[in-house]
Amino acid sequence: MGFFSKDIASLDDLFVHTLRDIYYAEKEIEKALPKMIDKATNPRLKAGFEQHLAETRGQIARVEEVFEMHGVKAKEVNCPAIDGILEEADEVAADVADKKVLDAALIAAAQAVEHYEITRYGTLIAWAKELGRSDCASVLAKNLKEEEATDKKLTQMAESGVNLQAAE
Ligand SMILES: [Fe+2]
Repeated sequence: MGFFSKDIASLDDLFVHTLRDIYYAEKEIEKALPKMIDKATNPRLKAGFEQHLAETRGQIARVEEVFEMHGVKAKEVNCPAIDGILEEADEVAADVADKKVLDAALIAAAQAVEHYEITRYGTLIAWAKELGRSDCASVLAKNLKEEEATDKKLTQMAESGVNLQAAE
């Protein structure tokens, strides 16, 4: 995101810019998840991605709600950070032939995505509060809570390689 863009003069501008950044990221994630569902072999992982796809659609709706509450147009701005994470995930997954290793690569990619979202929502919530928009902060906190829960689930799957194998 262009931190030094001349369009950003105030904390409010920065808040709106970052909201547009996460809006773009969520929409890219919505596009990437069906590919990850296809590639995942473990049923638990597949189901986890399916659930997160549904959640992501709800999160997009919440971000749109925050745009409306804040009186600004719902618009995306390019986010090279999420593009990079998703591109790398694609490249790594394309190179892995072993199914268990592929699942591990997908979990790692998904966690990189979650961590990106967690940092963005954390920042947005803090700025919303500073701007006196605790109403926006509480909507964004719902998204943060879901991302954190997804991240936790992914950690459990990454750590239970045995379960992943047993589920085959
Ligand atoms: Fe998300």
